[in-house]
Amino acid sequence: GSGRHSLIAALAARVGRGIACIDCHRLPRAGKLMAAALRQELFRALLRGCVPVVSGLEAADPADAEGQDVIKQTLRSHPGPVCIRAAPEASLPLDPGFVTAMLPSLNESERAAFWHEALERAALPVADVDALAARYRVGPGVIEQVIAQVVSRRNHEGVSPDDDAGSQLEEVSAQHIATRLSHIATHVRRLARWEQVALPEDVIDSIREFVARISHRKTVYEKWGFDAKMTTSRGLTALFYGPPGTGKSMVAGLIARELGLDLYRIDLARIVSKWIGETEKNLAEVFDAAEDGQVVILFDEADSLFAKRTEVKSSVDRYANLEVNYLLQRLDTFEGVGILTTNLEGSIDQAFKRRMSLRLHFPFPDEDMRVRLWAAHIPAEAPVAGDFDFLDLARRFPLSGGYIRNSTLRAAFLAAQENRPLGQEHLLRAIALEYRELGKLSTSGRME
Ligand SMILES: Nc1ncnc2c1ncn2[C@@H]1O[C@H](COP(=O)(O)OP(=O)(O)OP(=O)(O)O)[C@@H](O)[C@H]1O
Ligand SMILES: [Mg+2]
Repeated sequence: GSGRHSLIAALAARVGRGIACIDCHRLPRAGKLMAAALRQELFRALLRGCVPVVSGLEAADPADAEGQDVIKQTLRSHPGPVCIRAAPEASLPLDPGFVTAMLPSLNESERAAFWHEALERAALPVADVDALAARYRVGPGVIEQVIAQVVSRRNHEGVSPDDDAGSQLEEVSAQHIATRLSHIATHVRRLARWEQVALPEDVIDSIREFVARISHRKTVYEKWGFDAKMTTSRGLTALFYGPPGTGKSMVAGLIARELGLDLYRIDLARIVSKWIGETEKNLAEVFDAAEDGQVVILFDEADSLFAKRTEVKSSVDRYANLEVNYLLQRLDTFEGVGILTTNLEGSIDQAFKRRMSLRLHFPFPDEDMRVRLWAAHIPAEAPVAGDFDFLDLARRFPLSGGYIRNSTLRAAFLAAQENRPLGQEHLLRAIALEYRELGKLSTSGRME
């Protein structure tokens, strides 16, 4: 998103050439096979008279020295210019001698300037261009695409040229991000509100502070110049850990709502591919999209991905570790908002924990908290029979919020089925059913 693609295309156009994009993530991962496929792609570009633009070279296994050598050789022997696109931190199989151009990613003011310029060219009226730039961290290429799409839509719909295009541009930009995420993430639409959560005061304070940090990022980093002083990532990441049903996923939604951002839950099963190298590519897409858009990414049950690095015993372990290494590298440059949740804090690699801006423990609710949880889960509109004794429930049943939610819902269905208002007795029956379902004979053990 820093304009690498646009820059290369413009340079090639100067000399009357087109470009041919070669993404090594789509080629076989193993060094020799990748080199062979790459050679073919380069040759094809040559035949078409295009300047080849190679990306994804970091997908080659850095531990495979021989493979790295063959790739270097392939690139070296290509007759004609070759452009490589990579992240600044990537380690690539390249001979020394390549000209490197480091494009800093555009900051908000620069992006705003680009929007202004491009909108003027397209003669699109927008009242608040800066707001648009602040909301979508997209690079020049995407900005052009979005504008082109809006222009053609307006022509098609016969919109008056004086009509403000702000909301249309917002909509198309949001769609752009959503499309990129849709095959690996789920858009979570039901987001919790503050009044629905029951958590200890110190946990609430930490959540509020995290939200404030996200909203004041621009002021602190750009206006106050902290950007230049920071060597670590400007992204904001949180690790929520604690027993099941204590509100971790719920609070992720709350944070997104507070910030007016969309929440995308990453489907780890869809990301972790059996194809070596694919996982990394999927992850790269997630992080890029999260940086570019108005989204919070949620790695629910993150342990499967962020688990401790294993001792290398097989080649599978080695690749698993590669993914971890990739994640660590990527987190260091990540500029978006990400939340990880887990039940097993101990399973998360220490190196990840260190990189998190916030590590927050969600405790199992104590008795007082359970009273509040029961009360919070019965809607005001529900017909009730007399007063509930939540204190009695809280004392007798050590349940987390998740089970309390299940029990109230279940009780409501029991009552509806009997065509009676909801009463204490329904709650008790529902709790018994919950315990039984978990295979517990007594209704006293702690349920997590
Ligand atoms: N602290 C809480 N305050 C209010 N409601 C809660 C709280 N914790 C849990 N709940 C209720 O339980 C439901 C499930 O909670 P949630 O999915 O957030 O738990 P979790 O910590 O993510 O659990 P898991 O580790 O199993 O994913 C919530 O939708 C909410 O109804
Ligand atoms: Mg959860």
